[in-house]
Amino acid sequence: MALSKRLECILQEISCVTLADIGSDHGLIPVSALEEGRCQKAIATDISASSEKNVLQLAGARGVLDRIEFRRGDGLAPLSLGEAQVIVITGMGGLLIESIVKNHLDLALKSRLVLSPQRDQPILRKSLGEMGFAIKKERLVFEGEKPYNIFVCEADKEKEYTELELLFGRRLLEEKNPELLRLLETKLNKDKLLLQRLKASGKDDRSRNRIGEVESSIAQEEGAIRWLSKPNG
Ligand SMILES: C[S@@+](CC[C@H](N)C(=O)[O-])C[C@H]1O[C@@H](n2cnc3c(N)ncnc32)[C@H](O)[C@@H]1O
Repeated sequence: MALSKRLECILQEISCVTLADIGSDHGLIPVSALEEGRCQKAIATDISASSEKNVLQLAGARGVLDRIEFRRGDGLAPLSLGEAQVIVITGMGGLLIESIVKNHLDLALKSRLVLSPQRDQPILRKSLGEMGFAIKKERLVFEGEKPYNIFVCEADKEKEYTELELLFGRRLLEEKNPELLRLLETKLNKDKLLLQRLKASGKDDRSRNRIGEVESSIAQEEGAIRWLSKPNG
């Protein structure tokens, strides 16, 4: 089945007997995982009633209905301990993903998590470390100009993150990820233009605060770009 780059990238991280896809919506992830033999059985969950119809319709059309189960419910509540070796939670905000994991932490710690937060990535990175997960792998994929982060996490100790690692991803920085460099160069150019405009227009307290924030983003972006541009060794 033809998938977006984001979904394709998520799919590549699935390899297990039983997959759970939390907030499955359209069902593309579990159905494709079954079709490609990335799992033998899939549990799709969602709080929304319309998702059940979507998932079962797609599974029927693709001939995998006998290996998929839909369970309606909030977060990880529809799962039992150890049932799924891989749990996917993607296409939601970082704070929602954080609360879904935190609310059933014992269960989450038993599985490999594939997470894709649409925003608040730094908060989720920090919180995962505090909850006892290490981000073993991080991927950055673009659909047009829009970046998507994908974290692959397992229960393990993670040493404390630096500010830059929380902001931009330890694994991406370690591997000097070229996509991250491209993203940061684009962000830096935008922030420099914004700073010029703010300095030219605003003289009140609010503008001064905003100028401070943009200057600090620029310093962080420049720090990460310096690191990413430095040759290894
Ligand atoms: C934008 S869709 C993402 C679909 C798919 N996971 C993806 O990455 O393309 C978000 C889905 O999460 C579901 N959702 C939101 N909060 C949820 C929760 N607490 N538990 C389960 N599903 C939830 C929504 O109903 C919606 O179908």
